[in-house]
Amino acid sequence: MKMTREQLYRRIEQAEPGEIAALEAKIAACPWRQGYHIQPVTGLLNDPNGFSFYEGYYHLFYQWFPLGTEHGMKYWYHTRSKNLVTWENVGIAIEPGTPYDSHGAYSGSAIEKDGMLNLIYTGNTRDENWIRHPFQCLAFMDEQNVITKFEHPVISDVPTGYTEHFRDPKVWLHEDVYYGVIGAQRTDETGCTVLYCSEDLKHWQFLGEIGTTLSSFGYMWECPDYLELEGQGVLIFSPQGIPAESDRYQNIYQSGYLIGEPLNLDTREFTHGEFEELDRGFDFYAPQTMQSPDGRRILVAWMGLPDLTYPTDDSGWAHCLTIPRQLSIQGGKLIQRPVPEMAQLRKDQQGIRTQDSLSNESRSFAGFNGIAYELQCEISQNDADLVGIEFRASDTEKTVIQYDRLQRKLILDRSQSGATLSEANGTIRTCTLDEDIDVDAVIKLHMFVDSSSVEIFVNDGQEVFTSRIFPSQESMDIRFFAHGGKADFRAVMWNV
Ligand code: FRU
Repeated sequence: MKMTREQLYRRIEQAEPGEIAALEAKIAACPWRQGYHIQPVTGLLNDPNGFSFYEGYYHLFYQWFPLGTEHGMKYWYHTRSKNLVTWENVGIAIEPGTPYDSHGAYSGSAIEKDGMLNLIYTGNTRDENWIRHPFQCLAFMDEQNVITKFEHPVISDVPTGYTEHFRDPKVWLHEDVYYGVIGAQRTDETGCTVLYCSEDLKHWQFLGEIGTTLSSFGYMWECPDYLELEGQGVLIFSPQGIPAESDRYQNIYQSGYLIGEPLNLDTREFTHGEFEELDRGFDFYAPQTMQSPDGRRILVAWMGLPDLTYPTDDSGWAHCLTIPRQLSIQGGKLIQRPVPEMAQLRKDQQGIRTQDSLSNESRSFAGFNGIAYELQCEISQNDADLVGIEFRASDTEKTVIQYDRLQRKLILDRSQSGATLSEANGTIRTCTLDEDIDVDAVIKLHMFVDSSSVEIFVNDGQEVFTSRIFPSQESMDIRFFAHGGKADFRAVMWNV
């Protein structure tokens, strides 16, 4: 049952007696709780926030509504990790409730300054007519994880020319000056990113819009992130209102990037190539990146989308974050690979190799099955029309990743994955592989499967399919197949 506005905008201490315990009991009985992904203790998780490294830990916060699976009063929830793969729940980080964040501590970022982790976020407020007034706010976290809010907002006004959809500050330091990008909607209801600068994170100067060629590309750009990698500028953002076209933009909202020359901070001009989606799967939104102490650029995203319902809603929780991915650039394209630290989770290695080619058949191997695992597979000598893997499979359920050689398309099919979800948005996702990839030679699939998700890295991170799936616990089989020709398979898997 949907919550009323009053129920949605309650703070955690306004929960009914026993309400949280009841949620916890439902959650404990849910078969789809994840094994190694960050997920909410109760209620709804959305965007990753404040992804950073401070005092020997990676810190990763997320948008959190504790009391239900709809988008209500948002907190920042705090998790931390020494190694990017085993995460510890620290607890509530930013609580909403001041006049500047009365209706939610919305998304933002973190940066270390003067020995403190500075958290810069959007304070969401609503007036008596339910009109939104966003403030950009600041809070400080010390090495004991104690968070203190700065007494007043650091940006109180939306500049002329923009609507109240003005949020999600992402801040970085460049030659002793702090810069921040904010996701915005122009008064003509098109989306864009604006740029600010500051000497001290407390006083911000509005510089103007980042100049892109996408003057009319959706009605709002959420969660922008600007970074420089291998000498190039990358602007990541999540535009809303982009119509679907062939195998692109199939999800309700998108997340993608522009790559170009480093942003000219004086003119704000950004010369860039085409907008590219970051992910090809069903559930991926609002990514955020950080730089690790050893200089790697790492991305985490929300493995979900706004405005959709999910099968775990009835169990009192919704969504999780993706595993961390390391970014690089190849041929003007962002490449995403799982961080090598993921290997620390591996247990019980097993390998298989087809002795004779698979030809018009589907084959499984003793011991090769599971619910939560990492699987690396290479498909070679491939003249089959269709090759692929069925996983989380049983007699009645399966999720399928397959390569259609004639169309040069990879296809993720969750039509028979288990509990159905948002089928109005389709049950397959496809992507056409770049022409310069010799797929007849070898196709590499690197999969991270958890109780209710899959992340498939294709050909060393050229493409990624990220999706929730909701199979029954009995659906554990893995089957390799080749139809309309033959193919050889080599695979290694580890329980996780
Ligand atoms: C993106 C988003 C952000 C906002 C946050 C609120 O999913 O809508 O723009 O800050 O979620 O939870």
